[in-house]
Amino acid sequence: MTHASTRPPPGSRVFSGMQPSGEAHLGNYLGALRQWAAMQDDYDCIYCIVDQHAITGRYDAAALPGAVFDLAISFLASGLDPERSIIFVQSDVPEHTELSWLFNSVAPIGDLERMIQFKEKSERMESVPVGLLNYPVLQAADILIYRADVVPVGEDQRQHLELTRDIARKWNARFGKYLPEPQAYIPRAGRIVGLDGRSKMSKSLGNTVGILDEPDEIRRRVRTAVTDPARIRKTDPGRPEVCNVYSLHEHFADEERLDDIAHQCRTAQRGCVQCKGMLAEEIDEAFAPMREVAAHYRAHPEEVRRILDDGAQRAGAIARETMAEVRSRMGLDWKRTARALTEETES
Ligand code: TRP
Repeated sequence: MTHASTRPPPGSRVFSGMQPSGEAHLGNYLGALRQWAAMQDDYDCIYCIVDQHAITGRYDAAALPGAVFDLAISFLASGLDPERSIIFVQSDVPEHTELSWLFNSVAPIGDLERMIQFKEKSERMESVPVGLLNYPVLQAADILIYRADVVPVGEDQRQHLELTRDIARKWNARFGKYLPEPQAYIPRAGRIVGLDGRSKMSKSLGNTVGILDEPDEIRRRVRTAVTDPARIRKTDPGRPEVCNVYSLHEHFADEERLDDIAHQCRTAQRGCVQCKGMLAEEIDEAFAPMREVAAHYRAHPEEVRRILDDGAQRAGAIARETMAEVRSRMGLDWKRTARALTEETES
C-alpha cells in the first residue's frame, strides 16, 4: 500500500503541488495547506504552484499570472515558510517539462488512458488535448526530479501517485536504480465536502469559503451551507453525524464547544441558522491571522517575488543535478563521446 498512515521518517524529502486557481479556500487549507505547513517541522519540504498543469484544461491566460500570485500569498498566509521550505512556481524550473518528455518514453499510454481524472475530464470535452492525457506524467516529473520520498496529497491523487511509482520503477529497471519510489501521504482530514453538502469543495462549484475572505463574506458564504436535510423546522431534532456544518465545526471548535453544538442540535434547542453563525465565527477567528499575513504581502509584492525567485533557484539546483544524471543514463549526452575521442587522440 502506498497509503502512509504512519508518519514518514524525519528528514524525508516532501514534495507537493497545487494548481493555481487564485486564493486558496477552506478545502485547500483543511485538506492540504495545513498539513504542508505542519510537515515543515520534521521534513525537507518543497512546495510548488503547478501552473503548467493548469493549462491542460480550460483556462484564462490573462488571469493565470494573478492566480499564481494569489496562491503564493495563500501559501505564505497558511504558514508555508520560505526560510524552511522551498516555495516556487513550476514554470520557473523548465527541467520539469524536460523530464516529463523523457518519461513519455517510459509511461504506457494505456495506463494514462485508465486514469480516473483523465476519464472524467476528457468525457466532457469535444477535443481532448494530449496535455490532459500526459498530465500525470508531468506530475511524476515534478515529484521524481526532486527524488522526493513523500507526497502529501488528497485521496483523489492516489492513482496519480501509483503511476508515479510505476514510472520510477520502470525507469529504474531500464536505466539503473536512481529514482526513489515516493509514498503518498494521505492525511486523516478526509474528504472536505463543500457547503452544498454534496460535492468536493471547489472554487468553480462556488461551494466554499476563501481562506482570505473578509468576515462579512465568510458569514454570507457559511449561511448558504446545507445542514441535515431531515431537519426542516427549527423544532425538528438534528443529526450532527450526517450534518456537513457539524463536520466543519469539528475542524474548528474545541471538544467542549463541540459537545454543546451536538447536544443543542439533537435536542432542537439551537437552530441551524444560529449554528452556522457560530461556524462562521470560528472560521473568522481561525483565519484572522492569515488575513493579516496576506495583507502584508499584498502591500509588499516585491517580497513575494523575491521568495518565489529564490525558491526557483534552490529547486532548480536540485532539478539540474537530477537531470544531469538522468540524461547521462538515458544516453542523452553525446558530448561524452566527443570528449572520449579527444582524450584518445591526445594520448
Ligand atoms: N494533480 C495535483 C492536484 O490536482 C497537483 C499536482 C501537480 C501535484 N503536480 C503534483 C500534487 C506533484 C503532488 C505532487 O491536486
